[in-house]
Amino acid sequence: MKEKIVNVLDQLFQKLENNNLRVLDAAMGGGNVTLELAQRTNGKVISVDIDPADSATKKIEDANLSSPVEVVKGTLASMDFLQDSSIDTIVSHSTISSIPAETPFKVQQVFKEFFRVLNPGGILLIIDYYPLESAAVRTKADEIAQDAWRTYKAVAELVGDHHHEEVPPEWVCETLRDTGFKDVYHEKISERELSDTFEEYIENMLHYISNIEDDELSRAFRMKILKLERDARMYGKSEYSSTYCIWATK
Ligand SMILES: C[S@@+](CC[C@H](N)C(=O)[O-])C[C@H]1O[C@@H](n2cnc3c(N)ncnc32)[C@H](O)[C@@H]1O
Repeated sequence: MKEKIVNVLDQLFQKLENNNLRVLDAAMGGGNVTLELAQRTNGKVISVDIDPADSATKKIEDANLSSPVEVVKGTLASMDFLQDSSIDTIVSHSTISSIPAETPFKVQQVFKEFFRVLNPGGILLIIDYYPLESAAVRTKADEIAQDAWRTYKAVAELVGDHHHEEVPPEWVCETLRDTGFKDVYHEKISERELSDTFEEYIENMLHYISNIEDDELSRAFRMKILKLERDARMYGKSEYSSTYCIWATK
């Protein structure tokens, strides 16, 4: 797990009275945050995902954790499986930007559900990326990163597939305040960093364009994608945006 995440989780548990906490991981994804949370509490971790990966569930089962983890398949936008005020803290890493892809227009509804299930005084911690779209372009690698993101979005939309959305922290904070959260603020927790997923990005794009029926368009996109790959090799790999975290209390 990346140091920036470990540090911010440490901060979270310093803020909480860590006794028998019920912790919600929203959403589970690869399961690494769930594992970190389970190591930090003697209570229970509830790990929700709309599409839980078997590999993540297995990783959690195999980890032989001291605190129980319950994996729930379900949407964060409607957590009927959790009672009002039944959770002490919620951690949401890299999920807010993924929600629109899976359940469009549901982010506000997810925040309402976070508010409902959280105990009064409970803390919500959101970790996500600053929008790359509006990030300052200082180097050729920055330019490639931005270009790759725009191309990815265009290709995904063309073949009708989902892509994540960029969520500025200011918007998230305002929406959380509107939902009723207090003491809401955001802070930067890391600068831009090298991406280890650029190759995956390229692979996905090439896969997408194989589904484009218009040969000319498909060829044009292929050339664009291969140029991005070449440029990335020459000028440095793509970079993610900086990371922010948002603190909010019910
Ligand atoms: C980029 S992953 C990150 C997950 C995890 N927190 C991590 O750090 O690895 C985003 C996850 O959110 C899940 N997701 C998206 N929308 C959701 C929703 N409405 N309800 C529950 N899970 C959702 C996706 O299935 C995916 O596993």
